[in-house]
Amino acid sequence: MIFSKTGLLNLRLTNFRSYAYLDMKLDESFTPVVLTGYNGAGKTNVLEAVSFLTAGKGLRSARLSDVGRRSNPEALYNADVMQLPERWSVSARVQNKDGLYQIGTGTVDGSERRQIRIDGKNTSKQSDLGRILRCLWLTPAQDRLFCGDPQARRRFLDRLVQAFDATHATRLTEYNNAFKQWSCLLREGRFDDRWLSGLEMQMATYGVAIAASRIDVIERISHYLAQPISSVFPTPDVVLTGVVEQSLLIKSALQAEEDFASSLKRMRKIYADGGSIAGPHTADFKVIHAQKGIDAALCSTGEQKALLLSIILAEMKTQLQEQGVCPLLLLDEVTAHLDSNRRHILFDILTDLPTQVWMTGTDSENFVYLAEKAQFFDVRESNLSLQNVA
Ligand SMILES: Nc1ncnc2c1ncn2[C@@H]1O[C@H](COP(=O)(O)OP(=O)(O)O)[C@@H](O)[C@H]1O
Ligand SMILES: [Mg+2]
Repeated sequence: MIFSKTGLLNLRLTNFRSYAYLDMKLDESFTPVVLTGYNGAGKTNVLEAVSFLTAGKGLRSARLSDVGRRSNPEALYNADVMQLPERWSVSARVQNKDGLYQIGTGTVDGSERRQIRIDGKNTSKQSDLGRILRCLWLTPAQDRLFCGDPQARRRFLDRLVQAFDATHATRLTEYNNAFKQWSCLLREGRFDDRWLSGLEMQMATYGVAIAASRIDVIERISHYLAQPISSVFPTPDVVLTGVVEQSLLIKSALQAEEDFASSLKRMRKIYADGGSIAGPHTADFKVIHAQKGIDAALCSTGEQKALLLSIILAEMKTQLQEQGVCPLLLLDEVTAHLDSNRRHILFDILTDLPTQVWMTGTDSENFVYLAEKAQFFDVRESNLSLQNVA
C-alpha cells in the first residue's frame, strides 16, 4: 500500500495563550517536529494549538475562554484581577491524502462558541475539521492515567475513537446535551413524561452509538495491540467496563437502546432524589500489562507510559493498514520516564510513520538521536527559532 503523508505546512497563532502571534513554517516532507525549551517557555501551548485543529476539545480540555491570551500577567495568577479573554485563533495549511486545505479555528467574542473556517468558508461542524485532520496525543497529565480519575481515561478512549471516526465528537455532544436537560428537569422536580421520554430516547440512541464505537475501536486495534512494538515495550490487554459497553456484548444495539431507555425511566425518581446513574458518561476501561499479568495501575510510571504509547501506536498501525493514513501525533514531554533504549526504539518507529509527529522536551540532548531526521525549534518566552542539533 502507498502511504499518504499527513501534516501541517505552517502554523499560525494569534492571541493563543502565551503567544500574541506566531507564524511557524514547517518542512514539506513532514519530518518530526521537536520543540525544546525550559519550563513555561510555551511548548505545550503550541501542541495544544495544533490539537484545536481537529474535532473535540483540545489536549488540555480547557474552556475556550481560558485559551485567549491574558496580556496582563496579573490576570493570569490573580483571580481578582479581571481581564476579558481576547479572541484567539489557530490556523494552518494542512496536507492529507485528499489534498491541501487551509483550516482555522478560534473564538469570535471570547465566549465558549468556537468558529471553524475551512478554505475560506465558515462551518459550525467540528466533524468537518476532524475529517481533514485527525490527531492523537499523550501529555504528562496522562502519565498516571491508569491510577486517576476515570474521566481522563474516558477522554483518552474517546480520542482513540475520534481519530477513527470524526462524528464521535457529535455523538458525545448530543448525548451530554440530552443528559444535562434530563438531569435539570429531574433535579428541579419537573416530571414531564413526554419531555423526559424524548430525552431518554436521545440518550439511549447516542449512548449506545458511543458505546458501540468504543467497542469497535478496541476490536479494530486488537490485532496490533497483541503485537508488542518491540521486546522492550509491554503488550496491553484492554477491557471495556462500561455498563452499556457490557450489555452490547450480549445484546443487539436495538435491544441495548430499549434497555438503556427503560432503565433511565425507572431511575427517574432515584436520580431526582440525588442518586446517580451509570451510562456511557461513567464508562471506563482496564488495561493489563500482558507479559507481567498485572493491572496497569500497579505498573511503574515508565511502564504505564509505555502501555499508553503501545495503545496509541496500535491505533496508528491499524489506520495505516486500513486506510493508508494515520493521525497527527502530539507527544508532550515524550522523553520523560522513558529510558534511552525505549526512547530510541520509539524514535525509530515515529520517524517511519507517514505523519507529522510533534514532540516536546526540556532538554534537546534527549533528542540528539533524531539529529538530521527532525526539525528542531528552540522555544524561549513564547518565541520559536529553528535550531541545529547535531
Ligand atoms: N491564557 C493565557 N494567556 C497568557 N499566558 C498563558 C495563558 N495560559 C497559559 N499561559 C502561560 O503560558 C506559559 C507557557 O506554558 P506551556 O506552553 O505550558 O509551557 P511549557 O514550555 O513548559 O510546555 C505559562 O507560563 C503560562 O502561564
Ligand atoms: Mg509543557
